[in-house]
Amino acid sequence: MQIIRTLDELNENLKSVWENDNELLAYVPTMGALHSGHISLVKKAQEIAQKTIVSIFVNPLQFSPSEDFSNYPRTYEEDIVKLLATGADFLYYPDFDQAYIESIQKVKASEELSACLCGASRPGHFDGVCTIVNHFFELIKPDFAVFGEKDYQQLKILEDMLLRQQSIIELVPGKIFREESGLAMSSRNNYLSDEEKLLAANIYRLLSEEKKSFEDSSLESNSEMIDGTLMNIRKKLMQLGFDVDYVDFKWSRIFVAVKVGSTRLIDNIEINV
Ligand code: PAJ
Repeated sequence: MQIIRTLDELNENLKSVWENDNELLAYVPTMGALHSGHISLVKKAQEIAQKTIVSIFVNPLQFSPSEDFSNYPRTYEEDIVKLLATGADFLYYPDFDQAYIESIQKVKASEELSACLCGASRPGHFDGVCTIVNHFFELIKPDFAVFGEKDYQQLKILEDMLLRQQSIIELVPGKIFREESGLAMSSRNNYLSDEEKLLAANIYRLLSEEKKSFEDSSLESNSEMIDGTLMNIRKKLMQLGFDVDYVDFKWSRIFVAVKVGSTRLIDNIEINV
């Protein structure tokens, strides 16, 4: 695996891939602290393209002043070991400074898509995501970009960005990778105690149960039933002691965001309506 730090190195390494029509390039953007969820995306990238590139960059533009930018886990050595074991071709690990970050072209997320769910409580977050992802796309020029359904709203916003730009980059979704307990893997799970992890496993258990009873119901599915399901999930999460940010339905999925202690966790599940 080539570890790339500078723009010159990036251009040198990718030149032959860009010029070779038989070598498609799949890109997995990350903020590091890699876990099996990230690695599942790298494996997906390897299935769809001859060459794979992963980036690690903790993007300051997507954190609000009150969020965990400086405390965000940085586990570079371990990340490299995982990527080597997976067989990624390139790791781009840039060292952009504040001035560089401020100089890059700003891209706004769709207001409509970012007004709800996580966007409602994180103003500017998705603008920061669009700006950095757009910049990486311009530098890396991949054929495919793989994003996890764990951050489904992010995926939809980036899909919309590519559509508006009439980009030729194809966005490829990757399924949510879970712990054995059902808890969706997340870098933020590192902040949870063992006890909190046990509690957090209830999120997916509840989502699965409510999905099943919704889909098993013989009644015609309708918006009232969805509302009832959302209310049930909210009530049960609160009874378990979660601080519920939202339980919502969109894009044929139920979305949940809760706080366990000071850690914010999100999850979603597809519902056949
Ligand atoms: P990060 O949180 O590091 O996530 C990188 C990618 O991994 C995202 O596409 C995310 O959806 C995916 N991912 C995280 N947990 C997953 C899981 N359990 N199963 C499957 N995929 C999972 O998302 C970001 O970074 C940033 O916003 C980024 C796009 C890199 C821009 O800075």
